[in-house]
Amino acid sequence: MTRRRSVREAEVSGRAVLVRADLNVPLERGAVADDTRIRAALPTLELLLERGAAAVRVCSHLGRPEGADPALGMGPVREHLRSLLPDDRLQVLENTRFDPRETQNDEGFARQLAEGCELYVNDAFGSAHRAHSSTEAVARILPAYAGLLLERELEMLGRLLGDVERPYIAVVGGLKVEDKLGVLENLAEYVDTMLIGGKMAEQLREDNPLEAPVRLPVDVIAAAEFAEDAESGIFRPNELPAGWLGLDIGPETRRLFADKLRTAKTVFWNGPMGVFEWERFAGGTRAVAEAVAACDGFTVVGGGDSVRAVNELSLADRLSWVSTGGGASLELLEGKELPGVAAIPRTGA
Ligand code: 3PG
Ligand code: MG
Repeated sequence: MTRRRSVREAEVSGRAVLVRADLNVPLERGAVADDTRIRAALPTLELLLERGAAAVRVCSHLGRPEGADPALGMGPVREHLRSLLPDDRLQVLENTRFDPRETQNDEGFARQLAEGCELYVNDAFGSAHRAHSSTEAVARILPAYAGLLLERELEMLGRLLGDVERPYIAVVGGLKVEDKLGVLENLAEYVDTMLIGGKMAEQLREDNPLEAPVRLPVDVIAAAEFAEDAESGIFRPNELPAGWLGLDIGPETRRLFADKLRTAKTVFWNGPMGVFEWERFAGGTRAVAEAVAACDGFTVVGGGDSVRAVNELSLADRLSWVSTGGGASLELLEGKELPGVAAIPRTGA
């Protein structure tokens, strides 16, 4: 087994280190609304400071700005990070995406980021599926190392594509099958059962290309229109009144899914079971979150919405791993090579 060269092996004493972290956090009224990703970046930064780095220069993107956009400046993130880790050697650069060269994976911009630094540590797992200057090109300019979070993500998510304890169950939800077909097809080769919820379950009911046992909802909470306060009821999927929309999995499906999850030894969950932003249609997603947390096996959750549900219910401590990557975790489980990871040299036995 080869792995990527780790920051733990880097000689950092007295040196200036460029760190790419994924500090792409939600902001509300100009302040950090959820600091999970900032906290997840701390162990690597602390390690570098403890080992005597002369300077630790952190960079990240924030949102998807078109050029410089004051609403997406790194100020709030910088302040928040400094409050968690006050150290004069720590510096947070401006949003990498303020420069259009970043997403072009431009080497000139990578050189600019690297200037004055002797090492590069990539700890931005959440951005590792992007081939950008700060995640890919820069690794060709400075000696590159994997950060602690990046390593741990690869280890924990990687386990899901290896020899796992069984039964192994994947729970996948969300809107469109086509967005997740790659993941579903790859996971189908590993899992014993897939539990499918969300709108994509309807698509799979019509046409299921997957070669794994798939359980689709046996009942749904449907509404007369797509509105938070619409008239609603519980129906068998094939008995929906004309024009009604399934917006959550029903009570029987929740029980069925929970029973399956109770006996699982390995679980991966991605994607909400319904329109969980609306309280009335959040019950299915919540039931799955609770069932995954109650499972004693190796349990991993990845992807923005499911992670949000887990955090809102304060269940993260009861899971084996909550990934900081949305798209990155899915691409990894799809079996794809992540450019940000591929750019770090391999090492040792
Ligand atoms: C994310 O939030 O998924 C990552 O930070 C990547 O962001 P992006 O999808 O804008 O590249
Ligand atoms: Mg548990």
